[in-house]
Amino acid sequence: MQKLILLLLNTICWSLILPAQAPPLQLQIDQPGAAIQPTMWGIFFEDINLAADGGIYAELVKNRSFEFSEPLMGWKVENAESEFGNVLIINRSGLNSANPRFARVSVQNDNSKLELHNQGFRGMGIKQGETYHFSLWAKAGTGNLSLNLSLVSSTGKKLAQGSLPISGSTWKKHELSFKASDTEAKAKLVITFQGKGSVDLDMISLFPATTWKNRPGGLRADLAQLLADLKPGFLRFPGGCIVEGRDLSQRYQWKKSVGAIESREMIVNRWNTEFLHRPTPDYYQTFGLGFFEYFQLAEDIGAEPLPILNCGMACQFNTAEVVPMDELDPYVQDALDLIEFANGSTDSPWGKLRAEMGHPAPFKLKLLGVGNEQWGPQYFERYKVFAKAIKAKYPNIKLVSGTGPFPEGSFFDLANQELKDLNAEIVDEHYYRNPSWFLDNATRYDKYDRKGPKIFAGEYAAQSVAIASPDNKNNWECALSEAAFMTGLERNAEVVNLCSYAPLFAHSEGWQWTPNLIWFDNLRAMGTPNYYVQKLFSNFKGTHTLPLLHQGQPLTGQERLYGSAVLDKNSNEVILKLVNATDKNVSRDVELAGIKKLNTTATQWVLKGTQLDQLNSLDKPTNISPIESSMPLKGKMLKVELAAHSVTVLKFKLG
Ligand code: AHR
Repeated sequence: MQKLILLLLNTICWSLILPAQAPPLQLQIDQPGAAIQPTMWGIFFEDINLAADGGIYAELVKNRSFEFSEPLMGWKVENAESEFGNVLIINRSGLNSANPRFARVSVQNDNSKLELHNQGFRGMGIKQGETYHFSLWAKAGTGNLSLNLSLVSSTGKKLAQGSLPISGSTWKKHELSFKASDTEAKAKLVITFQGKGSVDLDMISLFPATTWKNRPGGLRADLAQLLADLKPGFLRFPGGCIVEGRDLSQRYQWKKSVGAIESREMIVNRWNTEFLHRPTPDYYQTFGLGFFEYFQLAEDIGAEPLPILNCGMACQFNTAEVVPMDELDPYVQDALDLIEFANGSTDSPWGKLRAEMGHPAPFKLKLLGVGNEQWGPQYFERYKVFAKAIKAKYPNIKLVSGTGPFPEGSFFDLANQELKDLNAEIVDEHYYRNPSWFLDNATRYDKYDRKGPKIFAGEYAAQSVAIASPDNKNNWECALSEAAFMTGLERNAEVVNLCSYAPLFAHSEGWQWTPNLIWFDNLRAMGTPNYYVQKLFSNFKGTHTLPLLHQGQPLTGQERLYGSAVLDKNSNEVILKLVNATDKNVSRDVELAGIKKLNTTATQWVLKGTQLDQLNSLDKPTNISPIESSMPLKGKMLKVELAAHSVTVLKFKLG
């Protein structure tokens, strides 16, 4: 009895001095659950923040075909003198409705100092030693004129130059290449004229020779590489609200984005004037990055293409215009024709165009979105018509429908009910919420109907201030909370089949919306902490979920720890993702249940910030980025040290 009392006293004393030892987490390796879809982690692309023109589309000349509302926006005409030299904008609308305007340059004097400058997109990023391809469509008029071309730095230094005689009295493409002698973020293109006479100029263009896959007129290689490094499961394009347009006339029409570049009809970008606090009056869509190029990019980076099409509704935050039901046919036909463009035989009209554009093989389109962020009965009514027509002709195409802009509330509830009743296959949900919402919603999908529609977490990003606030930052707190939330997406891979952070890109001097996954300027690019969170999940997605338990329950924020685990059946590897949302280092044992003892090496990636408001920047792009290390793993107990405010990914091989 005395012994028992002493033992009890001893236990009570120790428990007062030492913190209670946390019970080990249990990783049930022999109980793989749902298959993780190869599409699980993907990319959302929208031409917002100069993502396409001025961004990944490597064209350096702004307003190359003089089609902006102000035809000389982006251009400067220097030393125009009416009697010696001038530039006239001519509109031949009847003859070329897609590209009506061109510039007629007249020089009447050998000594004319007339100059045409193009300022690029916040300047032109020029790199030392890089070759630049200049091209334009031109037609000689009277006399004999040559163009002198130069790239000039912000301090007036010539970085490259060349001369291009213009010949022929019909429209013809003229080209010239030159190499840059220096690097400059804010160069301009300067055209001067030699001789006397007149020339007509259009589609004045400048591209670096080095592009993604070195395609002429292609994409910025550094930005495309950042996408490829994500190893994304899908590429959603072209948005976003850009699909809808402020009104229907400004909706994205994929047919106008394919074919010869010079015949793609440009329109104003809907983000041009969307935010009065971030006006971008020079923001237009040239469609140089059009649907063919999106499909090609998806193929290049191993992602399933996921186009989203307008469903006969303009943005409901703007005009909310809808097309009458009896005039919906052309919209539906656009969807059917798009499937033919992507997958059709080269004998079909749209398949033939794909082949002519350089891709006779089909793009193997399997997924198609109908509408972006629509809500209300007008959406379901229109969606039904699309679904019926598409399924009748292409039963294997999986359709994505949407629940609107908010992840809860009456629009969301109605959409969920209606779409369930319509047997919707994949439903898109959007969440732009504060970091606490993301932590609190790590269990969001635990109770979703396993037999209901699959979920596309199609747009999400933690907002450090508020949705659409220009003060939002891509800080570590936001990235950490997204990681915690993503463990919930992964644990529920049975229901959640696709996920994408949004928006994707932002030019540091030309953005309208923040936060964004990747920031860039004219020469540099960087992944945010959020990018590295996405990369860790996507690069280590596995093939099947594994139960990771804390006292018999999934780890969903107990003691502010979050976690998920997967098995990769192809490589026979286990991957564990743990998020420590506390401000303390935490040490935990993880019991590896259901396997024989291991004698191996585990690889660990730790992503952490020293402060919650820490950022990456173009000067310090990897401030917060994964740090890799390895550790021996013996037996069946894994000891993990989770740094304060960190995301840890651990990978080890079985057997
Ligand atoms: O990602 C920015 C915008 O947010 C998208 O265009 C839209 O779908 C959402 O409201």
